[in-house]
Amino acid sequence: MIDVLLGLQWGDEGKGKIVDYLAHKYDIIARFQGGPNAGHTLYVNGVKVVLRTIPSGVFHDHCLNLIGNGVVIDPVALKGEIEQLLAIRPDVLSRLFIAHRAHLILPTHRALDAASEAAKGSDKIGSTLKGIGPAYMDKTGRNGLRVGDILSKDFQQRYNKLKEKHLQMLAQYDQKIEWEEWEQPFMEAVEYLRTLQIVNAEYWLEDHLKSGKQILAEGAQGSMLDIDYGTYPFVTSSNTIAAGVCAGLGVAPVHIGEVYGITKAYCTRVGSGPFPTELDDETGEALRKAGNEFGAVTGRSRRCGWIDLVALRYTVMLSGVTKLIMTKTDVLDEFNPIKAAVAYKIDGKETKEMPYDLCSTDVEPVYETFPGWDKPLSACTSFEDTPQVFKDYCKFVEQYLGTKIGFVSNGTGRDQLLVIG
Ligand code: GDP
Ligand code: IMO
Ligand code: MG
Repeated sequence: MIDVLLGLQWGDEGKGKIVDYLAHKYDIIARFQGGPNAGHTLYVNGVKVVLRTIPSGVFHDHCLNLIGNGVVIDPVALKGEIEQLLAIRPDVLSRLFIAHRAHLILPTHRALDAASEAAKGSDKIGSTLKGIGPAYMDKTGRNGLRVGDILSKDFQQRYNKLKEKHLQMLAQYDQKIEWEEWEQPFMEAVEYLRTLQIVNAEYWLEDHLKSGKQILAEGAQGSMLDIDYGTYPFVTSSNTIAAGVCAGLGVAPVHIGEVYGITKAYCTRVGSGPFPTELDDETGEALRKAGNEFGAVTGRSRRCGWIDLVALRYTVMLSGVTKLIMTKTDVLDEFNPIKAAVAYKIDGKETKEMPYDLCSTDVEPVYETFPGWDKPLSACTSFEDTPQVFKDYCKFVEQYLGTKIGFVSNGTGRDQLLVIG
């Protein structure tokens, strides 16, 4: 069976921590989309680690880790990540597998990302500038280079050809990007990539499924950043919802089991784009401080606001979420009251549906208000132990979304997770 774990908001819901927690139940953790734009934080024996391309099961001895074909790989970023991990886990390479159909991010993809964002001015997406958009454009445009290509004799010619195309595109931008110094490290990293375990992932997974192995597909970004259903064009360039798993790993839908959807107890977004429940005031600032809301990859400060149940209902529906996981509940310890958006008011009318274009629609969130709790959740060691007002808040969220909460996270540590029976 393949279970799925994905973010239901705009990313950074705490996927890394939860995958690391759940990994003991699984034989394989597989990333199915995104690339080094992701930053998944986990704490290993109190030490903070941020994973970007490598799946978050890497700290478990028994877990194999697959970077699936739906992922775009920057060899330089991957090499750097592996080197950082080798210091903590010398066995990381023996448990890491890479799909040969995964596409490569070239230095000129990063340059194009930077030039394109600069040209957009105040309309910029707020991209992480890791070359994600241009790499996926080449994939769908049928020009891309894949991991399997680095094993072919004519890789250098194919690289040169694609680079030439990118240089012509770059010439159209005013912004000059100094990408040349990125080329040599790229070639060195490609050389390194050749030594890793590159597999025909769809058959590799099929064999493991046949022998009864349990697999967890780890999502990156969040459902509201999905290329089709997110707040387009302020999105990433892949399908972040559960549908992305089958295409991103080469597995049939029949194998999909549980779909875990993660949401923070409030909401954040990093980068540009609509965010109906954003708090541009001291409460927002207090959330940022209490939740330490600064990007794991770029260090940018994250925009903060109340939980948006309209958006969550939409993303729960899109992925068929079977179990909810609510993270960062401890962050709300100091807040009173606590709010949750239960409808959008558009042109004076209330709706619980996501409009076609959040960017051009004037949306006023309608809030339900909840009392804060007087006992810190961070001090609770079981769900039973949590204050009644918090239990009521959880019940409300479950009823609104029509899905049960399976776990509540109340701190950054692996063990700070309350299981709801
Ligand atoms: P991801 O991209 O979904 O893996 O999330 P990030 O790692 O980018 O951001 C989540 C941040 O919240 C990280 O710094 C985590 O250590 C932290 N975190 C995760 N769960 C909790 C929690 O329950 N409470 C608190 N206070 N922090 C948490
Ligand atoms: P994880 O996996 C939060 C955002 C960027 C930008 C938009 C497009 O850690 O949750 P891109 O680099 O993909 O072209 O950026 O998407 N974004 C994320 N926001 N968490 C992420 O990943 C993100 N990955 C991309 O900030 O607004
Ligand atoms: Mg993150």
